[in-house]
Amino acid sequence: MNNVHANVQKWSASSRLFHWISALLLLITWAMMFLYTNSDSRLYIDLHKAFGISLLCWMIARVINRIITRAPPPVPMPKWQQILSQLSHFGLYALLIAMPMAGLLMSVYGGRPVDIFGLFEIPVFVTPDRSAARFYNDLHTDIIWPLIIAFTLVHISAALYHQFIRKDNLISRMK
Ligand code: HEM
Ligand code: HEM
Repeated sequence: MNNVHANVQKWSASSRLFHWISALLLLITWAMMFLYTNSDSRLYIDLHKAFGISLLCWMIARVINRIITRAPPPVPMPKWQQILSQLSHFGLYALLIAMPMAGLLMSVYGGRPVDIFGLFEIPVFVTPDRSAARFYNDLHTDIIWPLIIAFTLVHISAALYHQFIRKDNLISRMK
């Protein structure tokens, strides 16, 4: 064994927490939509929205955390890979913020307030407009969602490439 396991420069504890809870919230939000499409129960669409809004809040806090905490220096890799990695991370941040915003706008332009776990409601804060609702619906389901899938697959493939091909122990920076 070489000594790459020693002195791994980890992400801060807060960054690691933000990373894994974001991934979990994304999974739960998707799972609620999956259950909804297979059962048509209102409960699941309400939970889809509430977890999606939770992810939005979490991502806003995550961006603030990213600005105020220091990222570890990148592991050695060619410059182009470093640039692609930064672009893809920026893309993931942007997509995970745009997705719930589009969902929220779709709902309120459709004239539907958003129930947050039965605790409170986000009221209809715009004048309902069918064509705006349709626009945000298309954005949500046909544009941003496929991009999230693509970026996430690339992201996880890159992590596996580092783990099993480069063997540079990158994943332990985020563990
Ligand atoms: C990052 C958070 C979110 C993710 C990943 C997500 C993902 C999805 C996905 C995969 C679909 C199904 C698309 C399809 O029909 O194939 C969907 C539909 C939907 N989402 Fe979200 N969503 C998120 C946040 C939200 C939020 C915050 C709201 C509302 C407040 C919302 C409202 C809806 C609604 C109403 C539909 C059904 C649209 C329809 O029936 O055509 N979503 N979402
Ligand atoms: C099995 C799943 C996952 C693994 C193994 C993984 C692994 C990693 C690793 C190792 C890093 C740090 C890269 C570095 O140090 O340069 C990272 C960063 C990141 N990951 Fe993941 N990840 C996973 C899932 C996800 C998901 C589902 C998302 C969101 C859709 C995500 C979003 C991000 C973002 C935005 C960063 C950049 C962090 C920053 O710059 O603040 N990850 N991930």
